Amino acid sequence: MAAKTAPADNLSPDEMESHYFKTNPQPVFLQTHTSVARTFIDRHVEANRRVVLVTSGGTTVPLETQTVRFIDNFSAGTRGATSAEYFLQEGYAVIFLHRQFSLLPYSRHYSHSTNCFLDFMDEAPSQPASSSLSSTIGGQNSEHGPIVVRPEYQDEMRKVLRQYRYAKENHLLLLLPFTTVTDYLYELRTLANLMKPLGANALFYLAAAVSDFFIPRDRMAEHKIQSNEIPAPEQQSVTAAHTAISPDSIYTGFNDPNGPQKQQKKLIVDLDPVPKFLHRLVNGWAPAGSMIVSFKLETDPNLLILKSEQAIQRYSHHLVIGNLLTNRKWEVVFVSRKPDGGMQERWIRIPRPRGSVSGALPGMCAGLEAGLSASAAAAAAAARAEEHSRKEVEIESVIIPELKKMHTAMIEKAKSAHADKA
Ligand code: PMT
Repeated sequence: MAAKTAPADNLSPDEMESHYFKTNPQPVFLQTHTSVARTFIDRHVEANRRVVLVTSGGTTVPLETQTVRFIDNFSAGTRGATSAEYFLQEGYAVIFLHRQFSLLPYSRHYSHSTNCFLDFMDEAPSQPASSSLSSTIGGQNSEHGPIVVRPEYQDEMRKVLRQYRYAKENHLLLLLPFTTVTDYLYELRTLANLMKPLGANALFYLAAAVSDFFIPRDRMAEHKIQSNEIPAPEQQSVTAAHTAISPDSIYTGFNDPNGPQKQQKKLIVDLDPVPKFLHRLVNGWAPAGSMIVSFKLETDPNLLILKSEQAIQRYSHHLVIGNLLTNRKWEVVFVSRKPDGGMQERWIRIPRPRGSVSGALPGMCAGLEAGLSASAAAAAAAARAEEHSRKEVEIESVIIPELKKMHTAMIEKAKSAHADKA
């Protein structure tokens, strides 16, 4: 069964692409996304504005077509959402291709579990019935005070709100969600092709954490994989391609309180590699002259530079930004080719935020403080307020202006090459 979809090892990137997209169906929303993206891109081509495609968040790998279970990864979309804001600040229009329900530009400040939006609000005292404010609430007199932003958060929220409104009113930000790795790949290919008229004004900033493994559609179980049954023969290809494993070892779980306790069994998930589409992006999908930046995540510091250099050598794009899982919020490395063809690396570092653990900022949601004493909860709330008022430097505020400089240099080079030809 596995042999049915597995492509031969020696397929070219083009053949790999056509095999992948032929055997894995496109997302239902692709047509709608294509149409809104085309309008967005046309508008900015006309304005001669630079457009960046920011990819963000993790992709899922479904185990069933009617998906109950899936494999996922850690990415919350912080890098992508934060970067999108700085790109907008630098004058780019942004297509934000993100994992559905991951962090979004601007709203990220108030949607994370460390920053519950409800903690930013208060109920103001009710107004006398005659006051104009009171009479306008809900179109009638109200005994309730209006919901307001707490004084200590006013300045910051006003700033974020204005930036958000500006981006929205000027059609500078397009939000496109995906869920699975296949959704993501369809969207990436479609958007890159739509971006062709932008030429050198296009920038690709690939911060999404894309799965390297998946289950091809024709090996996927349709229905929920049952934990208390040995998989039916048609499901065996999904769960038990390793025929050497006896049926007794296939997962049943211990959750049948009435049945006899069975031997613990295993669910064997047989995943194929996802073709690396960076090659096709560089050599076909993306506009000629556009800039392509990919990310490389590692956990072993000894591998970071090596793997980033290998990516540049393999795909011949412009820049890899290397980062480690544990310190990615305050340290990254730019790896690229020097003009003489050799490799160069440049570290970007910001001061490590106080109290940070594995890149997470301190603070917690009021709901999580429920078990604390009143004084401890008040102290936690005060710490949250202080944390918010303290201006944290975000590493993306350094990364994005650097990229803009590199992109500008590329555009200038493309222009002068064009002038030389003419
Ligand atoms: O979201 P956060 O919590 O803030 O975390 C941010 C991040 C750590 C996820 C981000 O900074 C990051 O490093 N993203 C890339 C993760 C990674 O290492 O990807 P990769 O090694 O699987 O792929 C490298 C590049 O190849 C990626 O840019 C990807 O676009 C591309 N790729 C990946 C898989 C695939 N099948 N085809 C590809 O082209």
